[in-house]
Amino acid sequence: MVKIGLRTFFMILSIGLHLTSAVSILEYLFNLDVNENEDSNFKDLVIKYGKECEEYQVVTEDGYILTLFRIPGDVNRPVLLVHGCFGSGDSFILRGKKSLAYALAEAGYDVWVCNYRGTKYSRKHVTVDPDRDDKFWDYSFEEIGYYDMPAFIDFILEKTGQAKLQTIGYSQGGTVFYVMGSIKPEYNEKIKVLISLAPIAHFYHIKNPVTRLFENESRLSNIINAMGKEEIFGPRSGERAMIDAICWSPLTGYKICSQFLFELVGYDEDECEPKFYYKLKHYIPNSISKKNVQHLLQLRRGFNRFDYGPERNLEVYNATSPSKYDLDKVKMKIVLYVSKNDRLSTVEDGEELRNEFSNVVEFRIIERDEFNHLDFIWAKNMDKYIFPHILRALEQYNF
Ligand SMILES: *[C@@H]1O[C@H](CO)[C@@H](O)[C@H](O)[C@H]1NC(C)=O
Ligand SMILES: *[C@@H]1O[C@H](CO)[C@@H](O)[C@H](O)[C@H]1NC(C)=O
Repeated sequence: MVKIGLRTFFMILSIGLHLTSAVSILEYLFNLDVNENEDSNFKDLVIKYGKECEEYQVVTEDGYILTLFRIPGDVNRPVLLVHGCFGSGDSFILRGKKSLAYALAEAGYDVWVCNYRGTKYSRKHVTVDPDRDDKFWDYSFEEIGYYDMPAFIDFILEKTGQAKLQTIGYSQGGTVFYVMGSIKPEYNEKIKVLISLAPIAHFYHIKNPVTRLFENESRLSNIINAMGKEEIFGPRSGERAMIDAICWSPLTGYKICSQFLFELVGYDEDECEPKFYYKLKHYIPNSISKKNVQHLLQLRRGFNRFDYGPERNLEVYNATSPSKYDLDKVKMKIVLYVSKNDRLSTVEDGEELRNEFSNVVEFRIIERDEFNHLDFIWAKNMDKYIFPHILRALEQYNF
């Protein structure tokens, strides 16, 4: 397979925008839709694979209405799964019976799968309209950690009558717990263990060519600002139409977009075959706020609060630069799993994090050398490379 660079990708993307209608006409003429027509949501998928599923709405202190799914199991063993950015709770069921949510349910756990603010199940607020009011999109992973996680945790503990739960966070799904532990420290006590898959806190060691996305952070931020809106990948947005036309097109999709994705997350074609790739069409990307993306870009400089620029920082923080999240306050037990071929969450950044947290009980480099950022939730053979470690850690740190 030919590897393409980022520059080439963006060129193709812009040409693609112009070809959008042509491609649709071709597909229409030749009826080229090879995709399974599988527009199911989390609940339908779980039921399809033979398990029960419950659905709850949880309202945060700041008014966001969030969806929480549950595959009921032993109430003494609640496990909360938290997805990464651009994903939703769906991420944990897309490999069917080889998915993490399913595997945990099979093992007897009471499986809770959340959807944080902005994603398709949680694009709702008691007063603010996400389609009309930019205020809805004024959040980053800090608010997800400060409001959404505590709301989910309290709801689950109340429902199950437990004092503590276990949790698994993938990528930004782990980040939100570092934030929570640091700025809402009383919540450390409610977590038995956080298993952080492909952890993200600071991007000191990201690998080429991802570095190019970050190398002039302000320029990339400017491009995002120039889009002139707060929600990215909204349901009827231009960027989504473009993804739909190029990335899911049977003519160009796998060849162009999977290659672009591999450039960012590390190449591992064996674990993400075309059939699975096309299945993703119905599930990603989910909406995300511009502020969340910009905050992620800022992590190149360290695990700090959102940087508004000196003047606004002074108003918000009473200091010209944002402070670091205080990781000494993160007291929960943490298990970190990293992989060598992950260009975003690198082994080096993981090793530094291990020293920055006071309570890392386990640090593991996944044995498969090609294992990449997405393989943690979507690899064809997750059950072989990662589930045994997760299941063992859940048994081991159940206190
Ligand atoms: C990065 O972008 C800023 C603003 O666009 C510009 O002033 C600066 O010179 C750029 N730096 C590099 C290294 O390209
Ligand atoms: C803002 O920071 C200054 C200098 O650190 C401090 O003297 C002042 O009390 C702070 N103001 C507020 C409102 O916290």
